[in-house]
Amino acid sequence: MTLISDSRAASRTSAFAVGADDGLFRAIERALDNGTGTVFVLDSAGRAVGTLTLEGGRAAILAGRHLDPLTAADVMEQGVDRTADPATQSVPVSAVLDAEGRLVDVVLRGDSSFVPVAEPDLGHAEMRNLMDAYMSTWISSTGDYIRTLERRFAARTGNRHGIATSNGTTSLHLALVALGIGPGDEVIVPDLTFAASINTVIHAGARPVIVDVDPHTWCLTPEAIEAAITPRTRAVMPVHVFGRPAPMTDIMAVARRRGLYVIEDCAEAHDAHWDGQPVGSFGDVSSFSFFANKIMTTGEGGICVTNSAELAERMRMLRDHGMRPERRYWHEEPGFNYRMTNMQAAVGCAQLDRLDDFLAERARVHHLYARVLDGIPGVAMPPAMEARARPVVWFACATVPAERRAQLIQACRAIDVDLRPFFNCLSVMPPYRPYARPCPNAYLLSQSGVNLPTSRRVDERLAMRIADVFRSVLA
Ligand SMILES: Cc1ncc(COP(=O)(O)O)c(C=O)c1O
Repeated sequence: MTLISDSRAASRTSAFAVGADDGLFRAIERALDNGTGTVFVLDSAGRAVGTLTLEGGRAAILAGRHLDPLTAADVMEQGVDRTADPATQSVPVSAVLDAEGRLVDVVLRGDSSFVPVAEPDLGHAEMRNLMDAYMSTWISSTGDYIRTLERRFAARTGNRHGIATSNGTTSLHLALVALGIGPGDEVIVPDLTFAASINTVIHAGARPVIVDVDPHTWCLTPEAIEAAITPRTRAVMPVHVFGRPAPMTDIMAVARRRGLYVIEDCAEAHDAHWDGQPVGSFGDVSSFSFFANKIMTTGEGGICVTNSAELAERMRMLRDHGMRPERRYWHEEPGFNYRMTNMQAAVGCAQLDRLDDFLAERARVHHLYARVLDGIPGVAMPPAMEARARPVVWFACATVPAERRAQLIQACRAIDVDLRPFFNCLSVMPPYRPYARPCPNAYLLSQSGVNLPTSRRVDERLAMRIADVFRSVLA
């Protein structure tokens, strides 16, 4: 429970309050920005007279009520939940009222409802951009937001070109095809990753070669790559899993020496760095995902970044049915429709502005878990990485005794907390088994890893409750 006290209280309560005469959209924006989806409605004397939630705002808009001059008071539900009875409150924030009923403080409750492992953080800027894109009628894949997102995201990752895509799977596939990888080729992938990494290799017609990860970094190593190279190897796809950067300088050295392409899968590691350089700036093409559970989101969405003008041009063409942009309905080769919409890019532009805040917030959540889980038998946070690495937090992770993990997940479920097991490693799943080398490290991690809820609503109280569950199951 976070009690915002003293002098901070007055300034912080303003994030949770609107005046009764304020318009509906002011209330909606404030409810979005404070992360609880809730604001208290105050009368002219500062007394809390009602509660307005995003659900209430959505219902009002759907009913067309925003067409009338509408105030927060018209849409609110009468009355407020007080901290006196937090168990019965229906919203994730309680009002602290003085004797006259004035709002003097708020108490946040990150655990007031089911806590999923991930929640997108969508503020007022995303909504404004989205409405702008919508009203411009540029709702498909042409529009200023696409170009802006491509330019700005490429620059942020140290690249000259960005090619926005419909998701982080199509971006990987686009990269592989643009590099000419297909039947007869082998592509080295790590065993510990989400299946999109390997699926796209198979869809490109190439043969994946699954290699074990390092127990410390959880990523591919240059040595393991080198050992897996055959005369047919054309590319390697390092995955910066759970925000942990693979040792890219060393991987690039092997790849260059052995004449391999490198496609970085950065879906889970926006802004992670290796040797002072952002991930996504090393490979021939790098791919990011903007799925709703990622560090920044466009709902569905992804992007390829590259420094090669030639590859960028080819990816743009392949993304758009194989058509040359300057020659409509002339298809150079059978391409795909892998385009992002301007509405998704509109959300993405606002998210990119907030990326540093998202990263700081995720780091806060990680440190909070590290503190409360410290000393619980069998529980370990991810190993600290060497100085060359600057990891980011995608999902907060911990490893636990494998034989207790299912029980732990069930016990968290009982308190409405979503604790997720790591991905199954690829090598144990039937479609991928034929491509696997022995991968004991990835197997061990996949059996013992858990992802903890990682969103701005994770507060001290919630983290302590989770730690209590860990203690009771593992003691
Ligand atoms: C490592 C990795 N690669 C690729 C993807 C695919 O991204 P998307 O879900 O946007 O298709 C994901 C998404 O979960 C991922 O974690």
